[in-house]
Amino acid sequence: MNQYRTVSQIIEPNLVIEGAGVRLRRSIAPSRANPLDPFLLFDHFAFNDPIEGPTSGFPMHPHRRIETVTYMLEGSVHHRDSLGNAGLIGPGDVQWMTSGGGIMHEEMPRRSPEGNVFGFQLWVNLPAALKMSQPRYQEVSEDSIPIVERNGAKVRVVAGVFDGVQGPVAEIAANPVYFDVQLSPATQFLQPIPEGHTTVAYVFNGRGTFGLDADNLGENVEAVNMVVFNDGDQLKVQTPPDVSVRFMLIAGAPFEEPIVPYGPFVMNTEAEIKQALADLRNGTFVK
Ligand code: CO
Repeated sequence: MNQYRTVSQIIEPNLVIEGAGVRLRRSIAPSRANPLDPFLLFDHFAFNDPIEGPTSGFPMHPHRRIETVTYMLEGSVHHRDSLGNAGLIGPGDVQWMTSGGGIMHEEMPRRSPEGNVFGFQLWVNLPAALKMSQPRYQEVSEDSIPIVERNGAKVRVVAGVFDGVQGPVAEIAANPVYFDVQLSPATQFLQPIPEGHTTVAYVFNGRGTFGLDADNLGENVEAVNMVVFNDGDQLKVQTPPDVSVRFMLIAGAPFEEPIVPYGPFVMNTEAEIKQALADLRNGTFVK
């Protein structure tokens, strides 16, 4: 059965300041209402003006019970953490970090030789059963992310399956799709997505028609906006004859559990938030 996912909402990102003064565009922020379960937060970093001075970053901070997904297109992020890991997330690389029971880390953007920093960070929830699991990293370098080119579409497949090609990020509780999609002018893109999975597209370049239905009617969306889709089992996007588009396609299974967000933690109850803060004070946050 083909049930096309139509557009339910278009979110214009807010400009916010986070960390040690990092300016970014935020489309989703954690909230108890959890409207895009399992997705909690989506930030877009773009520093394109060297006269802004040195880029600031995110000095040592804790995470518990969520996954953070960092994808860089220009510039890089140097990270290090309480487990002794350190490294550079460079252009085209993805880091899928599962904080589980607790991790402390630092994330510091660095400009490209041209002076730019451009990337995304997504937060994905974990179900209660996995929330105190061991922290885990999946570091995926640019050259290990498959690029699939089909009929005007160029798709970097980080997680999920596009046209039979499986992305390298695996064993994630939300069973996600995470694609970077570029469509040439006059291109139609069709992707099956399981019914019930929350689905968004973050349009960061160009313009296209999103959420086309059986009659090929959809919503025209231009960069920079996040599109939220209604339920269905197929997603269709079409570009105009003279314009291309680029977007992140993100989908995943909701956990349907109550959540209590507090800064970098997302727990199921207030008591668990209090416990996290007590663990931080007592030096028992990282197991
Ligand atoms: Co972080």
